Amino acid sequence: MFENLQPASADAILGLIAEHKNDKRPQKVDLGVGVFRTAAGETPVLDVVKTAEQRLVDTQQSKAYIGTAGDPDFNAAMQELTFADSCDTARLFTIQAPGGSGSLRVAASLILRARADASVWVSEPTWANHIPLLGGAGLTLKPYPYYDTEKHVIRIEQMLDTLRHAPAGDLVLLHACCHNPSGLDPSEDDWRAIADVIVERDLVPFIDMAYQGFATSLASDAFAVRHMAGRVPEMIVSNSCSKNFGLYRDRVGSLSVLAADTGARDTVYSQVNNVVRTIYSVPPDHGAVVVSLILNDPELKAAWRLELAAMRGRLREMRVLFNDALIEKAPDHDFSHLVRAVGMFCFLGVTPEQVARLKQEFGVYMVDSSRINIAGITANNVNYLADSIAAVL
Ligand SMILES: Cc1ncc(COP(=O)(O)O)c(C=O)c1O
Repeated sequence: MFENLQPASADAILGLIAEHKNDKRPQKVDLGVGVFRTAAGETPVLDVVKTAEQRLVDTQQSKAYIGTAGDPDFNAAMQELTFADSCDTARLFTIQAPGGSGSLRVAASLILRARADASVWVSEPTWANHIPLLGGAGLTLKPYPYYDTEKHVIRIEQMLDTLRHAPAGDLVLLHACCHNPSGLDPSEDDWRAIADVIVERDLVPFIDMAYQGFATSLASDAFAVRHMAGRVPEMIVSNSCSKNFGLYRDRVGSLSVLAADTGARDTVYSQVNNVVRTIYSVPPDHGAVVVSLILNDPELKAAWRLELAAMRGRLREMRVLFNDALIEKAPDHDFSHLVRAVGMFCFLGVTPEQVARLKQEFGVYMVDSSRINIAGITANNVNYLADSIAAVL
Protein backbone atom coordinates (compact mmCIF):
# COMPACT_ATOMS: atom_id res chain seq x y z
CA MET A 1 0.00 0.00 0.00
CA PHE A 2 2.89 2.41 0.50
CA GLU A 3 4.52 1.92 -2.91
CA ASN A 4 3.16 5.20 -4.31
CA LEU A 5 4.46 7.35 -1.46
CA GLN A 6 7.40 9.69 -1.97
CA PRO A 7 9.48 10.87 1.02
CA ALA A 8 7.99 14.01 2.55
CA SER A 9 10.11 17.13 2.19
CA ALA A 10 12.41 17.60 5.17
CA ASP A 11 11.54 20.31 7.71
CA ALA A 12 14.06 23.14 7.20
CA ILE A 13 14.58 23.74 10.93
CA LEU A 14 14.96 20.06 11.79
CA GLY A 15 17.55 19.73 9.01
CA LEU A 16 19.41 22.73 10.40
CA ILE A 17 19.41 21.25 13.93
CA ALA A 18 20.95 18.03 12.57
CA GLU A 19 23.62 19.95 10.60
CA HIS A 20 24.50 22.01 13.67
CA LYS A 21 24.74 18.89 15.80
CA ASN A 22 27.19 17.28 13.39
CA ASP A 23 29.35 20.40 13.11
CA LYS A 24 32.58 19.75 15.04
CA ARG A 25 33.68 23.39 15.30
CA PRO A 26 33.62 24.39 19.00
CA GLN A 27 32.69 28.01 18.22
CA LYS A 28 29.53 27.03 16.25
CA VAL A 29 26.35 28.99 17.06
CA ASP A 30 22.75 27.82 16.61
CA LEU A 31 20.33 30.66 15.90
CA GLY A 32 17.83 28.38 14.12
CA VAL A 33 15.99 26.29 16.66
CA GLY A 34 12.78 27.76 18.13
CA VAL A 35 13.21 27.24 21.87
CA PHE A 36 14.30 29.54 24.69
CA ARG A 37 17.86 29.05 25.93
CA THR A 38 19.66 30.26 29.01
CA ALA A 39 23.08 31.92 28.97
CA ALA A 40 24.46 28.37 29.38
CA GLY A 41 22.69 27.31 26.18
CA GLU A 42 20.13 25.16 27.99
CA THR A 43 16.35 24.88 27.74
CA PRO A 44 15.69 23.90 31.36
CA VAL A 45 12.51 22.84 33.13
CA LEU A 46 11.37 25.94 35.08
CA ASP A 47 11.82 25.64 38.87
CA VAL A 48 8.14 26.42 39.39
CA VAL A 49 7.22 23.64 36.96
CA LYS A 50 9.35 21.19 38.96
CA THR A 51 7.56 22.26 42.15
CA ALA A 52 4.13 21.87 40.58
CA GLU A 53 5.06 18.51 39.04
CA GLN A 54 6.14 17.21 42.43
CA ARG A 55 2.86 18.36 43.92
CA LEU A 56 1.02 16.64 41.09
CA VAL A 57 2.87 13.35 41.58
CA ASP A 58 2.14 13.49 45.32
CA THR A 59 -1.57 14.25 45.00
CA GLN A 60 -2.93 12.89 41.70
CA GLN A 61 -5.36 10.06 42.41
CA SER A 62 -6.29 8.92 38.93
CA LYS A 63 -5.27 9.03 35.33
CA ALA A 64 -8.71 8.10 34.04
CA TYR A 65 -9.81 9.97 30.91
CA ILE A 66 -10.69 13.60 31.19
CA GLY A 67 -13.32 14.98 28.81
CA THR A 68 -12.75 16.47 25.39
CA ALA A 69 -12.49 19.98 26.88
CA GLY A 70 -9.75 18.99 29.33
CA ASP A 71 -9.24 20.29 32.85
CA PRO A 72 -11.83 22.92 33.91
CA ASP A 73 -9.42 24.60 36.38
CA PHE A 74 -6.81 24.94 33.64
CA ASN A 75 -9.40 26.34 31.24
CA ALA A 76 -10.64 28.94 33.73
CA ALA A 77 -7.10 30.03 34.57
CA MET A 78 -6.08 30.31 30.90
CA GLN A 79 -9.21 32.30 30.13
CA GLU A 80 -8.43 34.74 32.93
CA LEU A 81 -4.77 35.03 31.86
CA THR A 82 -5.78 35.71 28.27
CA PHE A 83 -8.88 37.86 28.50
CA ALA A 84 -8.87 39.25 32.09
CA ASP A 85 -12.14 41.23 32.29
CA SER A 86 -12.17 42.41 28.67
CA CYS A 87 -15.46 40.83 27.62
CA ASP A 88 -18.68 39.17 28.68
CA THR A 89 -17.64 35.68 29.79
CA ALA A 90 -21.17 34.38 29.12
CA ARG A 91 -20.23 34.61 25.41
CA LEU A 92 -16.82 32.99 25.87
CA PHE A 93 -15.44 29.49 26.39
CA THR A 94 -11.97 28.04 26.66
CA ILE A 95 -10.89 24.44 26.15
CA GLN A 96 -7.56 22.74 26.69
CA ALA A 97 -5.63 21.76 23.56
CA PRO A 98 -2.43 19.83 22.74
CA GLY A 99 -0.16 22.86 22.42
CA GLY A 100 -0.68 25.91 20.28
CA SER A 101 -0.50 23.72 17.17
CA GLY A 102 -3.29 21.45 18.41
CA SER A 103 -5.37 24.49 19.24
CA LEU A 104 -4.86 25.95 15.76
CA ARG A 105 -5.81 22.61 14.22
CA VAL A 106 -9.07 22.42 16.19
CA ALA A 107 -9.79 26.04 15.23
CA ALA A 108 -9.25 25.14 11.57
CA SER A 109 -11.85 22.38 11.75
CA LEU A 110 -14.26 24.68 13.54
CA ILE A 111 -13.86 27.36 10.85
CA LEU A 112 -14.44 24.76 8.11
CA ARG A 113 -17.61 23.57 9.82
CA ALA A 114 -18.91 27.09 10.37
CA ARG A 115 -17.89 28.87 7.17
CA ALA A 116 -16.15 26.58 4.68
CA ASP A 117 -15.93 29.23 1.98
CA ALA A 118 -14.21 31.85 4.15
CA SER A 119 -10.55 32.69 3.65
CA VAL A 120 -8.05 33.17 6.45
CA TRP A 121 -5.77 36.18 5.88
CA VAL A 122 -2.26 35.57 7.18
CA SER A 123 0.65 37.97 7.60
CA GLU A 124 3.35 37.99 4.94
CA PRO A 125 5.48 36.41 6.33
CA THR A 126 3.99 34.31 9.10
CA TRP A 127 5.13 31.39 11.29
CA ALA A 128 6.29 28.79 8.75
CA ASN A 129 3.98 26.11 10.15
CA HIS A 130 0.83 28.24 9.91
CA ILE A 131 0.64 27.53 6.18
CA PRO A 132 0.86 23.70 6.19
CA LEU A 133 -1.06 23.40 9.46
CA LEU A 134 -4.05 25.55 8.53
CA GLY A 135 -3.84 25.08 4.76
CA GLY A 136 -3.34 21.34 5.19
CA ALA A 137 -6.51 21.20 7.29
CA GLY A 138 -8.38 22.55 4.26
CA LEU A 139 -8.56 26.30 4.89
CA THR A 140 -7.97 28.82 2.11
CA LEU A 141 -5.15 31.16 3.13
CA LYS A 142 -4.46 34.60 1.65
CA PRO A 143 -1.57 36.92 2.53
CA TYR A 144 -1.74 40.46 3.89
CA PRO A 145 1.42 42.64 3.79
CA TYR A 146 3.19 42.79 7.14
CA TYR A 147 6.96 43.08 7.13
CA ASP A 148 9.05 45.47 5.08
CA THR A 149 12.28 43.53 4.51
CA GLU A 150 14.15 46.67 3.37
CA LYS A 151 13.20 49.11 6.11
CA HIS A 152 12.54 46.51 8.83
CA VAL A 153 9.20 48.02 9.84
CA ILE A 154 5.60 46.84 9.78
CA ARG A 155 3.73 47.76 6.62
CA ILE A 156 0.74 48.87 8.64
CA GLU A 157 -0.93 51.04 5.96
CA GLN A 158 -0.65 48.30 3.32
CA MET A 159 -1.91 45.74 5.84
CA LEU A 160 -4.96 47.87 6.71
CA ASP A 161 -5.63 48.56 3.07
CA THR A 162 -5.59 44.86 2.18
CA LEU A 163 -7.93 44.04 5.06
CA ARG A 164 -10.26 46.85 3.97
CA HIS A 165 -10.76 44.90 0.74
CA ALA A 166 -11.24 41.47 2.35
CA PRO A 167 -14.74 40.02 1.91
CA ALA A 168 -17.01 40.29 4.94
CA GLY A 169 -16.95 37.10 6.96
CA ASP A 170 -13.30 36.26 6.28
CA LEU A 171 -10.91 35.64 9.16
CA VAL A 172 -7.70 37.50 9.99
CA LEU A 173 -4.94 35.54 11.64
CA LEU A 174 -2.99 37.88 13.93
CA HIS A 175 -0.01 37.23 16.19
CA ALA A 176 -0.91 38.65 19.60
CA CYS A 177 2.70 39.48 20.44
CA CYS A 178 6.29 38.57 19.47
CA HIS A 179 5.36 38.14 15.82
CA ASN A 180 7.09 35.04 14.49
CA PRO A 181 9.27 35.46 12.42
CA SER A 182 9.72 39.28 12.39
CA GLY A 183 9.62 40.10 16.13
CA LEU A 184 7.80 43.34 15.25
CA ASP A 185 4.37 43.88 16.78
CA PRO A 186 1.78 46.54 15.97
CA SER A 187 1.67 49.42 18.48
CA GLU A 188 -1.46 49.83 20.61
CA ASP A 189 -2.64 52.51 18.17
CA ASP A 190 -2.01 50.13 15.29
CA TRP A 191 -4.06 47.46 17.07
CA ARG A 192 -6.91 49.94 17.49
CA ALA A 193 -6.76 50.71 13.76
CA ILE A 194 -6.71 46.98 12.92
CA ALA A 195 -9.73 46.44 15.17
CA ASP A 196 -11.54 49.34 13.46
CA VAL A 197 -11.10 47.69 10.05
CA ILE A 198 -12.12 44.29 11.42
CA VAL A 199 -15.32 45.77 12.87
CA GLU A 200 -16.08 47.91 9.79
CA ARG A 201 -15.50 45.04 7.38
CA ASP A 202 -17.23 42.41 9.50
CA LEU A 203 -14.11 40.24 9.66
CA VAL A 204 -13.36 37.72 12.40
CA PRO A 205 -10.10 37.99 14.36
CA PHE A 206 -8.26 34.71 14.81
CA ILE A 207 -5.44 35.44 17.23
CA ASP A 208 -2.46 33.20 17.82
CA MET A 209 -0.85 33.93 21.20
CA ALA A 210 2.21 31.70 21.52
CA TYR A 211 4.47 34.08 23.50
CA GLN A 212 2.40 35.83 26.17
CA GLY A 213 4.87 37.38 28.62
CA PHE A 214 7.87 37.23 26.27
CA ALA A 215 7.54 40.79 24.88
CA THR A 216 6.71 43.31 27.62
CA SER A 217 4.41 41.88 30.31
CA LEU A 218 1.58 39.38 30.62
CA ALA A 219 -1.00 42.16 30.45
CA SER A 220 0.43 44.30 27.67
CA ASP A 221 1.21 41.25 25.53
CA ALA A 222 -2.51 40.46 25.71
CA PHE A 223 -3.52 43.96 24.59
CA ALA A 224 -4.59 42.88 21.10
CA VAL A 225 -6.74 40.03 22.41
CA ARG A 226 -8.38 42.10 25.13
CA HIS A 227 -8.96 45.13 22.92
CA MET A 228 -10.57 43.02 20.18
CA ALA A 229 -12.59 41.01 22.70
CA GLY A 230 -14.18 44.25 23.91
CA ARG A 231 -15.15 45.26 20.39
CA VAL A 232 -15.99 42.32 18.13
CA PRO A 233 -18.97 39.96 18.25
CA GLU A 234 -16.92 36.86 17.45
CA MET A 235 -13.29 35.84 17.71
CA ILE A 236 -11.01 32.83 18.07
CA VAL A 237 -7.87 32.76 20.23
CA SER A 238 -5.23 30.03 20.28
CA ASN A 239 -2.78 29.95 23.19
CA SER A 240 0.41 27.98 23.63
CA CYS A 241 2.11 27.31 26.99
CA SER A 242 5.16 25.85 25.24
CA LYS A 243 7.33 28.95 25.57
CA ASN A 244 6.09 30.88 28.59
CA PHE A 245 5.97 27.76 30.80
CA GLY A 246 8.80 25.95 28.98
CA LEU A 247 6.48 22.96 28.52
CA TYR A 248 7.27 22.38 24.85
CA ARG A 249 7.08 18.59 24.71
CA ASP A 250 4.23 18.27 27.19
CA ARG A 251 1.89 19.84 24.62
CA VAL A 252 -0.11 22.42 26.54
CA GLY A 253 -2.32 25.05 24.98
CA SER A 254 -5.86 26.29 24.87
CA LEU A 255 -8.49 27.42 22.42
CA SER A 256 -10.98 30.16 23.25
CA VAL A 257 -13.98 31.24 21.25
CA LEU A 258 -16.01 34.40 21.78
CA ALA A 259 -19.49 34.04 20.26
CA ALA A 260 -22.22 36.59 19.56
CA ASP A 261 -24.35 35.48 22.52
CA THR A 262 -24.64 32.72 25.09
CA GLY A 263 -26.77 30.50 22.85
CA ALA A 264 -24.22 30.70 20.03
CA ARG A 265 -21.43 30.07 22.56
CA ASP A 266 -23.12 26.84 23.65
CA THR A 267 -23.56 25.67 20.06
CA VAL A 268 -19.93 26.41 19.14
CA TYR A 269 -18.78 24.73 22.36
CA SER A 270 -20.60 21.53 21.39
CA GLN A 271 -19.11 21.66 17.88
CA VAL A 272 -15.58 22.21 19.18
CA ASN A 273 -15.87 19.29 21.58
CA ASN A 274 -17.13 17.18 18.73
CA VAL A 275 -14.13 18.21 16.60
CA VAL A 276 -11.78 17.19 19.43
CA ARG A 277 -13.50 13.82 19.76
CA THR A 278 -12.90 13.15 16.06
CA ILE A 279 -9.21 14.13 16.10
CA TYR A 280 -7.50 13.15 19.38
CA SER A 281 -10.48 12.46 21.66
CA VAL A 282 -9.04 14.00 24.84
CA PRO A 283 -6.07 16.33 25.38
CA PRO A 284 -2.93 15.27 27.28
CA ASP A 285 -3.29 16.01 30.98
CA HIS A 286 0.08 16.31 32.70
CA GLY A 287 1.33 19.70 31.49
CA ALA A 288 -2.07 21.32 31.70
CA VAL A 289 -2.49 20.30 35.35
CA VAL A 290 0.98 21.70 36.04
CA VAL A 291 -0.06 25.04 34.49
CA SER A 292 -3.32 24.93 36.41
CA LEU A 293 -1.52 24.30 39.72
CA ILE A 294 0.76 27.27 39.01
CA LEU A 295 -1.89 29.72 37.87
CA ASN A 296 -4.34 28.81 40.62
CA ASP A 297 -1.80 29.14 43.48
CA PRO A 298 -0.77 32.77 44.22
CA GLU A 299 2.68 31.76 45.45
CA LEU A 300 3.47 29.55 42.48
CA LYS A 301 2.03 32.14 40.11
CA ALA A 302 4.31 34.81 41.57
CA ALA A 303 7.30 32.48 41.20
CA TRP A 304 6.34 31.78 37.57
CA ARG A 305 6.05 35.49 36.80
CA LEU A 306 9.60 35.96 38.07
CA GLU A 307 10.97 33.13 35.93
CA LEU A 308 9.07 34.45 32.93
CA ALA A 309 10.45 37.95 33.54
CA ALA A 310 13.96 36.50 33.69
CA MET A 311 13.49 34.79 30.28
CA ARG A 312 12.10 38.02 28.83
CA GLY A 313 14.94 40.04 30.36
CA ARG A 314 17.58 37.75 28.90
CA LEU A 315 16.11 38.11 25.40
CA ARG A 316 16.05 41.90 25.77
CA GLU A 317 19.60 41.98 27.06
CA MET A 318 20.92 39.84 24.20
CA ARG A 319 19.22 42.06 21.62
CA VAL A 320 20.97 45.12 23.03
CA LEU A 321 24.32 43.34 23.35
CA PHE A 322 24.10 42.00 19.80
CA ASN A 323 23.17 45.36 18.30
CA ASP A 324 25.99 47.05 20.25
CA ALA A 325 28.50 44.47 18.98
CA LEU A 326 27.32 45.00 15.39
CA ILE A 327 27.58 48.78 15.74
CA GLU A 328 31.22 48.24 16.68
CA LYS A 329 32.10 45.54 14.13
CA ALA A 330 29.95 46.68 11.19
CA PRO A 331 29.54 50.44 11.69
CA ASP A 332 28.32 51.04 8.11
CA HIS A 333 25.26 48.85 8.58
CA ASP A 334 22.10 49.50 10.55
CA PHE A 335 20.86 46.60 12.67
CA SER A 336 18.74 48.73 15.00
CA HIS A 337 15.67 46.63 14.15
CA LEU A 338 17.21 43.99 16.43
CA VAL A 339 16.34 46.17 19.42
CA ARG A 340 13.02 47.35 18.04
CA ALA A 341 11.87 43.73 17.76
CA VAL A 342 10.66 41.71 20.76
CA GLY A 343 10.48 38.08 21.84
CA MET A 344 12.67 35.30 20.53
CA PHE A 345 12.79 36.03 16.82
CA CYS A 346 13.60 38.62 14.19
CA PHE A 347 15.25 38.77 10.81
CA LEU A 348 18.94 39.51 10.81
CA GLY A 349 18.43 41.03 7.36
CA VAL A 350 21.12 39.31 5.28
CA THR A 351 20.82 37.45 1.98
CA PRO A 352 20.48 33.64 1.60
CA GLU A 353 24.04 33.64 0.18
CA GLN A 354 25.31 35.39 3.31
CA VAL A 355 23.34 32.92 5.45
CA ALA A 356 25.09 30.07 3.60
CA ARG A 357 28.54 31.66 4.11
CA LEU A 358 27.84 32.17 7.82
CA LYS A 359 27.16 28.46 8.08
CA GLN A 360 30.01 27.21 5.92
CA GLU A 361 32.76 29.56 6.99
CA PHE A 362 31.82 30.33 10.58
CA GLY A 363 29.48 27.59 11.83
CA VAL A 364 26.71 30.15 12.46
CA TYR A 365 23.36 28.50 11.75
CA MET A 366 20.09 30.24 10.84
CA VAL A 367 17.23 29.58 8.41
CA ASP A 368 17.59 30.88 4.84
CA SER A 369 15.31 33.85 5.43
CA SER A 370 17.88 34.97 8.07
CA ARG A 371 15.32 34.63 10.84
CA ILE A 372 17.32 34.25 14.04
CA ASN A 373 16.49 33.04 17.52
CA ILE A 374 17.89 35.64 19.91
CA ALA A 375 18.02 32.99 22.67
CA GLY A 376 20.97 31.39 20.84
CA ILE A 377 23.09 34.47 21.66
CA THR A 378 25.23 34.64 24.82
CA ALA A 379 27.74 37.11 26.24
CA ASN A 380 30.39 34.56 25.21
CA ASN A 381 29.44 34.18 21.55
CA VAL A 382 28.15 37.65 20.72
CA ASN A 383 31.50 39.09 19.58
CA TYR A 384 32.27 36.02 17.47
CA LEU A 385 28.81 36.33 15.93
CA ALA A 386 29.23 40.02 15.14
CA ASP A 387 32.69 39.38 13.66
CA SER A 388 31.31 36.57 11.47
CA ILE A 389 28.45 38.74 10.23
CA ALA A 390 30.77 41.67 9.55
CA ALA A 391 32.96 39.33 7.47
CA VAL A 392 30.12 38.32 5.14
CA LEU A 393 28.44 41.70 4.71
C1 LIG B 1 3.39 31.77 16.16
C2 LIG B 1 3.34 30.40 16.75
N1 LIG B 1 2.14 29.82 16.91
C3 LIG B 1 2.02 28.60 17.44
C4 LIG B 1 3.13 27.88 17.82
C5 LIG B 1 2.89 26.48 18.33
O1 LIG B 1 3.47 26.16 19.47
P1 LIG B 1 3.27 24.71 20.13
O2 LIG B 1 2.45 23.88 19.25
O3 LIG B 1 4.64 24.18 20.31
O4 LIG B 1 2.60 24.99 21.44
C6 LIG B 1 4.40 28.44 17.66
C7 LIG B 1 5.61 27.69 18.01
O5 LIG B 1 6.71 27.96 17.63
C8 LIG B 1 4.50 29.74 17.12
O6 LIG B 1 5.68 30.34 16.93
